[in-house]
Amino acid sequence: MSTESTEPLSVGIIGCGVIAPPHIESFQACERVEVLALCDPQTHKARKLADQYGIACVADSVDELLAMDGLHAVSVCSGHAEHAATAAQAAKAGKHVLCEKPLAVSTEELDALEKLEQDHPSLVFEGVFQHRFDACYRFVREAVQLGHVGRLLLIDAHLSCHRPREYYLDSDWRGAWATEGGSLLINQAIHFLDLTSWIGGGVRSVNALTRNLGHEDVIETEDTAVLSMALGSGALGSFHGSSGSQRPWTSRMHFVGTEAEIIVEDGRVASVLARSEALGKELRRGADELEEATRLASVRTHYGPSHPRMIADFVDSIRRGHRPAIPFAEARKAVDLVLAAYRSCREGRNITLEQTD
Ligand SMILES: NC(=O)c1ccc[n+]([C@@H]2O[C@H](COP(=O)([O-])OP(=O)(O)OC[C@H]3O[C@@H](n4cnc5c(N)ncnc54)[C@H](O)[C@@H]3O)[C@@H](O)[C@H]2O)c1
Repeated sequence: MSTESTEPLSVGIIGCGVIAPPHIESFQACERVEVLALCDPQTHKARKLADQYGIACVADSVDELLAMDGLHAVSVCSGHAEHAATAAQAAKAGKHVLCEKPLAVSTEELDALEKLEQDHPSLVFEGVFQHRFDACYRFVREAVQLGHVGRLLLIDAHLSCHRPREYYLDSDWRGAWATEGGSLLINQAIHFLDLTSWIGGGVRSVNALTRNLGHEDVIETEDTAVLSMALGSGALGSFHGSSGSQRPWTSRMHFVGTEAEIIVEDGRVASVLARSEALGKELRRGADELEEATRLASVRTHYGPSHPRMIADFVDSIRRGHRPAIPFAEARKAVDLVLAAYRSCREGRNITLEQTD
């Protein structure tokens, strides 16, 4: 289904939990976009958000939502194991799909979805990695692409976050392999693995250690991980993180090149160091001029400011018939990497991936 650029666009939200409000607010901030309906098996959650955001319809099921007159697109905001089947159902119904990370929890699901996406070239199918729209990471990627950092040597990423027992105990999908598909890597770390791949030219191989060290009696999945990666650019990558930390959420990415290095902490360029004074000045001036997107009222700080930019790209891609910024093949890279990391840990060996920029 393609839509003329002047035609109003109607969207449905599938899954009305924590991440639904940033999606609703971001769509409502776009011109001539209406959130037509919401849907969640826990209908009280859908009704509450419908009242809060002035949305007329609550559908009883995904089938009912997809059958609504005039619906053009959906946002898939349910738990991880629901993503692939729901996205496939929506695409088969001729709807454009925006899907929260991760696109799926297995390679088989990813392959089936990719085939479906290729069979429906007129549909926009985009995966959510909103940090690709954060000004700081766009700045780093451009500096790498323009050659300002010289030869990229290392991307070192760290995440510490606090996921208390209740975060898992109060959820019917988190903390189990069958329903979350993992934990730290596939849920929280995946953002930084995606950025590592996006800036580092893809990931060629990964070696991983994962453990459940701080949530042993609560979840069956991992809360702590260390990864080493060979990147497509020739640089090395590393990730280390834990959701057993007492810090609510803190992240750090250190990009080291032969000419310059850049450190991003908690979504801001924290430090720039360059071999030449002139380059250092230029990079620091660029970093000082970065403008964040407007923060949404509903968004938790660590989700960053970029859901509105991510969703504006989805809407724009539908209207103009453009390839979106994060098409299916891009959005699956971080999921493939996470699945390879789990396999590496299970099999105790390095796993090769075929990823390029
Ligand atoms: N991009 C980000 O920064 C970010 C942040 C938080 C969560 N997320 C992602 O968003 C997704 C949802 O996370 P959440 O924290 O909102 O979870 P949540 O548990 O708060 O909400 C999920 C909702 O989906 C509903 N649901 C389950 N099956 C459904 C179905 N078949 N159809 C419709 N609704 C269904 C559940 O009843 C629940 O209300 C996950 O993929 C998560 O990884 C992304």
